[in-house]
Amino acid sequence: MTEHIKIFDTTLRDGEQSPGASMNTAEKLRLATQLESLGVDTLEAGFPAASDGDFEAVSEIAKKLKRTEVAALSRTSVGDIDRAWGAIQHAARPKIHTFIATSDIHLEYKLKMSRDAVVQEAINAVSYAKTLTNEVEFSAEDGSRSDRDFLCKIFEAVIEAGATVVNLPDTVGYAIPTEFSEMVKYIKTHTPNIDRATLSVHCHNDLGLATANTLAAIDAGARQAEVTINGIGERAGNTSLEEVVMATHTRPNWFSLDTRIKTEMIYPTSRLVSMITGIIVQPNKAIVGANAFAHEAGIHQDGMLKNPMTYEIMSPETIGLSKNKLVLGKHSGRHALHTHLKEMGYDLSDAELNKVFRQFKDLADKKKHVVDEDLEALVTEEILRTQEVVFELEYMHVTSGTTVLPMASIQLTINGRSVKGAGYGNGPVDSAFNTIAKLTGTSSELLRFSVSALTGGTDAQGEVTVRLRDNGLVALGRGSDPDIITASAKAYINGLNRIEFLKENPVKHAQSV
Ligand code: KIV
Ligand code: ZN
Repeated sequence: MTEHIKIFDTTLRDGEQSPGASMNTAEKLRLATQLESLGVDTLEAGFPAASDGDFEAVSEIAKKLKRTEVAALSRTSVGDIDRAWGAIQHAARPKIHTFIATSDIHLEYKLKMSRDAVVQEAINAVSYAKTLTNEVEFSAEDGSRSDRDFLCKIFEAVIEAGATVVNLPDTVGYAIPTEFSEMVKYIKTHTPNIDRATLSVHCHNDLGLATANTLAAIDAGARQAEVTINGIGERAGNTSLEEVVMATHTRPNWFSLDTRIKTEMIYPTSRLVSMITGIIVQPNKAIVGANAFAHEAGIHQDGMLKNPMTYEIMSPETIGLSKNKLVLGKHSGRHALHTHLKEMGYDLSDAELNKVFRQFKDLADKKKHVVDEDLEALVTEEILRTQEVVFELEYMHVTSGTTVLPMASIQLTINGRSVKGAGYGNGPVDSAFNTIAKLTGTSSELLRFSVSALTGGTDAQGEVTVRLRDNGLVALGRGSDPDIITASAKAYINGLNRIEFLKENPVKHAQSV
């Protein structure tokens, strides 16, 4: 019989711990709605004790989602648990997720606590959380480097105290699949009451083994996988949702397990996460990378024409990847745009639609075929990523070439006030960035700059991503435009706006508070 494997998505919590990936409340809400439609069982919305911004985002998500369990992370203190509960108390299906480290190295150097004290702390936390809500998950942080018998002891104790899920994290991405699988089997056979809780795993990708470890654990009896879209997360990231889901989906005879994920929503969700966070998916990324379904070798193409299954183990349509559809052109009206955006999952207000419609008309003047990817970029830029706008691009003129000094003249608004100026650099992008920095009085360091095309064709929009650092704050900016210098300026300005947002809303992470 096919068993169910629960998908616990932590894109909004652990995923947000990717350097520079912080999201604002509107972005988190949009993503949460998408994840609910995707079919995740549990959505970890954030860590309410970390900041007021996190508390607010978790509360909004908790109020909005109707079918999905909404989890809030907390350490074991009463204050943290109260804050988590405060944020999710109005959820249709609330869950408190409390954690404490269990490895000797964490106990000795970080917590300075004995094993017995840690067990008591975990029991107290779960018992208290249980007075607030029935669904309580307990995580043994750095579990993969913890003593196995101690893990069984603490899991047994928290299950007795009411935990409905016990989670084994490979916090530092140290585990090896066979070892991790043995650990899961050990826990299953040496924790007397384990059948009263769901055993979950949560892996990080420091050795590139997060998906392999998660699948090995599932094979060994774990029944919940903690994952993020595109595998984003702290350091090298977390287990990627799409890899685990498509592995069980593509190999049903091996796993005999299913998830509730609507696989055809995987690709649009991956795009949305990339657009919102500004984190580009590497082209060779399994399942959702640009090359994941591209067959270059002649011998492969020949086989594919004869029967796609010769070289393709899953069809692109299964994950919602279809050829760019011609959707709208310059004669399309507001109603057509509204209807199509709704089909894509964007339910915009009248004011938002007006804004997007104006930009759509501009784009349709420059570009004949406006496809889904273009609309996605417009909505992300105009609605999702521009909640707190301090700096806005009004006008830009750049000259460059083989025999002229690259120059940029730019007009911006800063908090609604117009400023203009000119500057030069050693190329058009450099001159635009120098001028913007001068006009805004900012001195952020450009850590990364990347440009790619949103679609095929020479009239495709360029998509630029920048990573900026200012006084220790790191932000990702993105911008798109048929003109890549304009796209670059938009990305830079977007990054500066996000740094301003971070100054107002400092982000603290689970591992650092
Ligand atoms: O990696 C980790 O240990 C975590 C816990 C808080 C579950 O993210
Ligand atoms: Zn983690």
